Amino acid sequence: MSPVSLDNKKASYDDIAERVRNCKACPLHRLRTNAVPGEGNLSAKIMLVGEAPGKNEDEQGRPFVGAAGQLLSSLLEQAGLRRQDVYITNVVKCRPPNNRTPTEDEVAACIGFLKEEISLVRPKVIVALGNTAGSALMSLAGKQWRGVTAERGRKVKVSIGGVELTVIPTYHPAAALYKPDLKDYLAKDIKEAAEEAEEPARA
Ligand code: URA
Repeated sequence: MSPVSLDNKKASYDDIAERVRNCKACPLHRLRTNAVPGEGNLSAKIMLVGEAPGKNEDEQGRPFVGAAGQLLSSLLEQAGLRRQDVYITNVVKCRPPNNRTPTEDEVAACIGFLKEEISLVRPKVIVALGNTAGSALMSLAGKQWRGVTAERGRKVKVSIGGVELTVIPTYHPAAALYKPDLKDYLAKDIKEAAEEAEEPARA
């Protein structure tokens, strides 16, 4: 990538992040300490998408910095990836009260940012962490979503925002903190994503 296009990407990223920080499109803005834009490698082959910021993320304005984020970082490491290699974001950029699941209206108000992030980063693979992420990504791709238990471990070829990519649905790391047997699936799916990202492009 030439330095010029990297500069362009950075400028576009800064623009998205600024609009996220100032967004008032849904009532969640009234409750937030910080909106949480995605972050990471703007040319990452792998994007990870979570649900919404939790308490720590709301306080620090950064995604996946709490306990679930620590688990995610260690699973990335196990797959030979560093956080700075990937791009990490959420479907909803402001914390819902008591970490409840975001409503359909909140997802609808925020989903445009995720679409913009995908068009900017152009990942080969997106790991959808949990139900909200899987459902939002499949809806952007015009595909059916049958819930994370049915969909996990699949590799779904989609087109989102003009980008052809593979979505790998898996469990949310917060779920794996409560049910440790889910951790092995999550680890396997992240490893699968790392391998898929290294596959040569098909003609
Ligand atoms: N859970 C999420 O879905 N996202 C975060 O950023 C943190 C916890």
